[in-house]
Amino acid sequence: MYFEVAKEKFEYLKQHYKEMDVFVLAIESSCDETSIAVIKNGTEILSNIISSQIDIHTKFGGVVPEIASRNHLMAINGVLNEALQKANITLDKINAIAVTYGAGLVGALMVGVTFAKSLAFALEIPLIKVNHIKGHVSANYLCEKDLKPPFISLIVSGGHTAIVKTISKTENVLIGTTLDDAIGEAYDKVAKVLGLGYPGGPKIDKLSAEGENNIMFMKNDALKKSFNFSFSGIKTAVINYIHSCEQGKKEYNKADVACSFQTQAIGTIIDKTIKACKKYKIKTVAVAGGVAANSYLRKNLLNACEKEKITCYFPPIILCTDNAAMIGAEAYNLITSGEGLADLSLTATPNLNLKYTIKKN
Ligand code: KG4
Ligand code: ZN
Repeated sequence: MYFEVAKEKFEYLKQHYKEMDVFVLAIESSCDETSIAVIKNGTEILSNIISSQIDIHTKFGGVVPEIASRNHLMAINGVLNEALQKANITLDKINAIAVTYGAGLVGALMVGVTFAKSLAFALEIPLIKVNHIKGHVSANYLCEKDLKPPFISLIVSGGHTAIVKTISKTENVLIGTTLDDAIGEAYDKVAKVLGLGYPGGPKIDKLSAEGENNIMFMKNDALKKSFNFSFSGIKTAVINYIHSCEQGKKEYNKADVACSFQTQAIGTIIDKTIKACKKYKIKTVAVAGGVAANSYLRKNLLNACEKEKITCYFPPIILCTDNAAMIGAEAYNLITSGEGLADLSLTATPNLNLKYTIKKN
């Protein structure tokens, strides 16, 4: 019964979204941020409440999945109330509930998915399932109102590194991805061996400013001609360098290690992004994911794009790291294209991958 009513309302939204205001309540809980947002007509952020668990996980040197799930559970009701209050809206005005169902930590995702299903059922409104990575791409629509496909999406986060050709608001083609570690993961692991703590990205970014790119970690890039990435080699090279210095009781400069790692790892990302633009004759790049906050990437990708007359968009930092506003933006694109409707059998899909959801060219 619920699904018939939800389906009817979904069809109505798809037919009439141009003549009405559509309010999506979006939920994100895939890792260590509990976030709920209210998005009006796909681009207007009425609220975007983010409760971060970073302080809780820092003492363990990384996200502890079980602790993450429990804290989502404790935070989610309060985050919902705050999101509704800030948006000055009541639940009866919400047209659809959107939720991240993958990729991410299974227990963490389950909290958001179960909460979303309960809300959709109680309110008798459509439930929209959102792929977290596509959500990161859609963050760009929230800040660049004129952004229109086709463009190249560069997705750089703790779980993913991918160059994607965004063909339409819901269609993406994977051009290249990492064969092992994600860029953010490599940052976090290198920071750990340098004793900088978690999350490593911002710490390496800051320390790099005091160092020089004078240690060669990325010696022979076997993937030079491909659009794919590999960061496990550079990560191991950094770890081996530190260990051999420590064993030989040789001093090393942490800032130089950070700067060399960052310059070389981000360097390959910039090169491949520009190459992809040239190959597919695309003049726009939109960056997504937590590593989009990186100051070296921002400065140097913008410079490289300027040289090639490519327009490059970076969302503001708050929309780069995990947040529910991007999930709401993606859900609106799905609704208006008649996609994404889920029934109450929706489950968390931890390994939901770009490869399964994005057509490979
Ligand atoms: O997108 P995100 O919030 O979560 C995932 O979906 O993975 O990205 C988190 C990742 C972490 O690995 C963190 O170290 C990295 O983004 N990060 C950065 C910076 N800020 C966050 N990496 C490099 N430089 C930064 N400034
Ligand atoms: Zn993310």
